[in-house]
Amino acid sequence: MKISKFLLIFNLCFLFIFHKSFADEAKMAKGLEIFNETAGCAACHVLKAAGSMGNIGPNLDMVSNISKESVMDIVTNGLGVMPAFGEDQIISKEEIDIVSSYVANVAGK
Ligand code: HEC
Repeated sequence: MKISKFLLIFNLCFLFIFHKSFADEAKMAKGLEIFNETAGCAACHVLKAAGSMGNIGPNLDMVSNISKESVMDIVTNGLGVMPAFGEDQIISKEEIDIVSSYVANVAGK
């Protein structure tokens, strides 16, 4: 009885950790898709992780330590020539959130 209870708890922990890493991976894949396709960030930015070569905006591999919050702010409100994706409703708030964590995770790495 004791061992089976232990195994049950062990399995539940395992599933929980596994599920979480799958969810993170799925979110990164979605972020990449938004970057390259849905929002078209790739057209203006170099980002090695995404394989993009746009050179209208700054090379995102050159920005170091950019936080998710500051990416979200720039993407939502725009900056100079960069469109305001939130104000113009080009992508949803959820998509802004996902693409911003993606960029903050891979930029400058
Ligand atoms: C039409 C071209 C264009 C598109 C599309 C575009 N950007 Fe930009 N982006 C720019 C330009 C230009 C700047 C620099 C603005 C300035 O400093 O005046 C910039 C700046 C940035 C910065 C700040 C970089 C730094 O040096 O701190 C980030 C981060 C960024 N963009 C991310 C994104 C993301 C994510 C997307 C897609 C959701 C995106 N951009 C789409 C042109 C673009």
